[in-house]
Amino acid sequence: MSILVTGANGQIGTILTRTLRKIYGKEQVIASDIIRPNYDDDPFLMLDILNVQRIREIIEDFEITEIYHLAAILSANGEWNPLKTWNVNLNGLLSILDLAREYKLEKVFFPSTIAVHGSTTPKVDTPQDAPLLPGTVYGMSKLAGENWCNYYHQRYDLDVRSLRYPGIIGHDSLPGGGTTDYAVEIFYAALQQGHYTCFLRPDTRLPMMYMDDAMRATTELMAANSSKISNRTGYNVTGMSFTPLELAEAIRQHIPNFSIDYKPDFRQAIADSWSQSIDDTKARQDWGWQPEYNLEKMTADMIFYLNQSIKIKAN
Ligand code: NAD
Ligand code: SER
Repeated sequence: MSILVTGANGQIGTILTRTLRKIYGKEQVIASDIIRPNYDDDPFLMLDILNVQRIREIIEDFEITEIYHLAAILSANGEWNPLKTWNVNLNGLLSILDLAREYKLEKVFFPSTIAVHGSTTPKVDTPQDAPLLPGTVYGMSKLAGENWCNYYHQRYDLDVRSLRYPGIIGHDSLPGGGTTDYAVEIFYAALQQGHYTCFLRPDTRLPMMYMDDAMRATTELMAANSSKISNRTGYNVTGMSFTPLELAEAIRQHIPNFSIDYKPDFRQAIADSWSQSIDDTKARQDWGWQPEYNLEKMTADMIFYLNQSIKIKAN
């Protein structure tokens, strides 16, 4: 087995590369990105996902059997350059899918997102097969990507699997320009400044998931027997749902003097177009998905680990 991770220097890629290396061995997992990590991440290769020839060479040289294709431009950053976002997110995926077909790769993982939801989607307990009319170019590219994944599975029997991640929260890597980034930033601000100015309104409820759960969802989906995977677009998965106000209250249980104010910006409209909570029954039924972290458990973990790393940096 030889795994290629694209976008490996991002919030999820950093942790997913580490997680896959624990399972399969360091040399078996090739990290790649357009930006080199500032810590030792070997084996690491520079790879622009738009460079099809370079992907081909890597597949051949390293005899790649699986690809976790994370490289993308996220929801908020995507709105600054819609055509570039479409190009990177969709054409990058198409190259991966087509090379996976050509080289008969065993599996491909494609992270989709709650951003596929939009104005026509029921907001509470959003079902798996809800109507989808995304309002961001990021959501459009991921929805088109889901359909291409399904097409490659139906037409070429490619074993491509996908999760619609909600906002992912972790203590070991920083988010990269999404609308749910506030839920990570707030912890750093609480511990370092005691105050956070939130770019969403206090009552903006969004689905979220702790990084540990996201890693388990990804590795469990990819390890499941193919016969159990009935969905080839993107599985709904969730861990918890909360508002900035509720998160601030949970943080105050640990840091009583923490204060927050709110200055909503363009990301408010994006958040308002997404679901508030997700029905992930299909993932639970098909391959046994079960989250372990709720708001309280996630908050305690985040504060514990961020406190530790702040102390280590101070010494
Ligand atoms: P991120 O922005 O932190 O990381 C994305 C990485 O892709 C970056 O390291 C960036 O350098 C790289 N990249 C951008 N353009 C590239 C190109 N042309 N070629 C190669 N690499 C390129 O994002 P993330 O949060 O780690 O997300 C990873 C994946 O998970 C993405 O596909 C994203 O859509 C999806 N996702 C993330 C979340 C979340 O909350 N973090 C939620 C839903 C889905
Ligand atoms: N967390 C991501 C974002 O906000 C959702 O895909 O863009």
